[in-house]
Amino acid sequence: MPATLPPRFWSPLVLPVILCAVGLAACATEMGADGKMTLKLPSEVVAGPWADKGYVGPRACLICHEQIYNYYRDHGHPKKLRPATEAREWGVPLPEGYSWDDVSYVIGGATRKARYIDQQGYIINKTGPKKDKDGKNQYNTATGRWVDYNPGQVLKYDCGPCHMTAYSKNGNQDNRPGMVGTWAFPGITCEECHGPGKAHAAAPSRTNIKVDPSDAACGKCHIRGAKERIPAGGGFIQHHEQYNELLASPHAGKVSCVTCHDPHKRAAISQRMGCDKCHAKQAADFKGSRHEKSLVRCIDCHMPAATKSAENFGKYIGDIKTHIIKISLGANDQMFTPDGKFATGKLTADFACLSCHASRDKTWAAAQGKGIHARGK
Ligand code: HEC
Ligand code: HEC
Ligand code: HEC
Ligand code: HEC
Ligand code: HEC
Ligand code: HEC
Ligand code: HEC
Ligand code: HEC
Repeated sequence: MPATLPPRFWSPLVLPVILCAVGLAACATEMGADGKMTLKLPSEVVAGPWADKGYVGPRACLICHEQIYNYYRDHGHPKKLRPATEAREWGVPLPEGYSWDDVSYVIGGATRKARYIDQQGYIINKTGPKKDKDGKNQYNTATGRWVDYNPGQVLKYDCGPCHMTAYSKNGNQDNRPGMVGTWAFPGITCEECHGPGKAHAAAPSRTNIKVDPSDAACGKCHIRGAKERIPAGGGFIQHHEQYNELLASPHAGKVSCVTCHDPHKRAAISQRMGCDKCHAKQAADFKGSRHEKSLVRCIDCHMPAATKSAENFGKYIGDIKTHIIKISLGANDQMFTPDGKFATGKLTADFACLSCHASRDKTWAAAQGKGIHARGK
């Protein structure tokens, strides 16, 4: 396997082997159920108090749910917060002035952007050869750019319950003063969603493991602010608010996150069914149209990247797809409130169309939008 492949192409099973081949002290080996030695990633080893609460870590599930585990390891969820020892093997670069010994954890880097935590538990915000310049502390994976994240501020890692497993607001993880709260595992592991699994792993039954398929369960983290509004800024919807968007869409209460997504598979391969399964009429209209022949898909218009996490690539092209989905063609329909601080819940023709038709404008797009499915047949 060439070392230049981006991390998303790495097999989840190859990773532990590579990690331990380079001699990580924290890599524990253990005897698997089949008698073979298996390797634990540092992030999967459970510490004292959490073991007492019944947490066992994802590798305890692997024996019986191997396929789910493999998909899950490939997902952004477990990679959300990673010890530096693991992150360095994934090809995430270091901010200028730092060595891996200066970094305790990396936040993200699996999909859009990475931020870094120092040995005291603070988010790194001074970089440069002498570590004395504000900014250039966020790495954007799509472009390789270093950008400024809250330059000049002292940044505790107080990112609460959204990036870890079994978050408690008490104490400081690893006794690092900048880390607010403690947790069983960095990243979102099986037991964040399914609860402590010790009893279930010992005697599997449906009665001793939690399953919560509600939108609110995903919305615990895929939310920003109050769920009734959709915060925006800089001409884009802000990221991590898929729940706010779903509630503003016609799918609210009718189609849930896990109707469309297998919760264990990363976004690009997680779709359980196409839009055509429920919208047969529109799919039939679309078949044979100019757009369909040009390989434009339903989601290219209905889920444009109106949301921004790290980068935008044009006025109407952010880097996260919106879940508002219904396109509004009214002449007075606006994507954002006049102050730009919230999305209105309407997905307007500029975002739906102009990412491809860049030489046109919103008025053109709204006028052409009527009956667009069958256009060119
Ligand atoms: C020794 C094998 C074994 C291990 C280890 C194991 N499971 Fe299971 N699991 C099962 C079996 C068997 C079922 C199906 C039980 C049934 O249908 O009665 C199951 C069912 C489940 C379900 C579905 C429950 C439902 O209501 O449909 C979930 C979720 C689950 N396991 C999660 C986990 C997690 C998380 C772990 C690790 C902490 C784990 N399992 C470890 C064997 C195992
Ligand atoms: C309310 C829950 C929540 C809080 C609080 C939160 N995040 Fe996130 N974050 C998410 C979710 C969900 C995503 C992925 C979905 C998205 O970006 O739309 C994400 C994505 C990210 C990513 C991109 C990951 C990648 O691989 O591209 C980074 C980096 C990040 N968050 C850093 C932070 C930092 C630093 C804080 C604290 C200052 C923080 N987040 C607070 C939920 C949260
Ligand atoms: C982000 C939350 C989340 C994470 C992380 C997660 N699950 Fe699940 N899992 C769910 C939800 C929600 C369902 C039930 C809804 C569904 O599948 O539609 C489910 C269903 C299951 C089921 C029963 C259905 C099936 O597909 O067989 C098993 C078994 C299971 N999970 C095991 C695991 C294991 C093992 C891990 C870790 C390797 C894990 N889950 C990680 C949310 C999660
Ligand atoms: C404990 C917080 C939390 C919960 C609960 C949660 N997520 Fe996430 N989710 C995140 C964060 C943080 C990320 C960003 C991870 C990254 O890319 O680094 C993310 C990323 C994702 C991604 C994109 C990641 C990829 O690799 O493509 C999908 C899809 C997703 N979540 C779906 C779900 C669904 C569906 C549920 C409910 C079953 C759910 N999430 C529950 C926090 C959470
Ligand atoms: C599981 C079935 C299901 C799936 C999958 C699904 N939808 Fe829907 N969709 C619905 C339902 C139910 C409604 C609400 C219908 C209503 O209230 O008239 C809806 C409403 C809509 C509407 C608004 C319809 C209107 O008349 O205003 C649009 C647009 C839409 N869906 C697009 C999509 C797209 C695009 C996809 C694929 C990403 C998709 N849907 C996937 C079931 C589904
Ligand atoms: C080229 C962009 C584009 C593509 C591709 C596209 N749509 Fe649409 N869709 C629209 C527009 C614009 C509207 C609003 C039409 C209106 O209000 O008259 C719409 C409306 C809808 C509606 C609301 C009901 C209706 O018929 O007006 C549904 C449901 C829908 N689309 C589903 C789909 C599905 C399913 C696909 C893929 C098979 C798809 N769309 C592909 C642009 C697109
Ligand atoms: C109607 C179907 C549908 C529903 C409902 C739905 N999603 Fe999605 N979601 C999609 C599709 C389609 C994609 C795009 C997948 C791709 O990249 O090909 C997507 C992408 C995502 C992404 C990655 C976005 C990006 O651009 O990288 C996240 C995160 C996500 N969904 C989370 C959620 C959460 C959380 C919920 C519930 C609050 C939810 N989704 C509900 C269809 C749906
Ligand atoms: C993912 C890219 C993409 C998106 C998004 C998109 N289009 Fe297109 N559109 C195309 C391509 C490609 C063609 C075909 C160009 C050609 O054949 O010369 C096309 C052709 C057209 C045409 C000419 C078709 C004809 O009758 O000959 C119109 C009108 C049009 N698009 C309108 C729209 C509108 C309105 C939207 C938004 C609702 C939209 N497009 C969204 C890519 C896109």
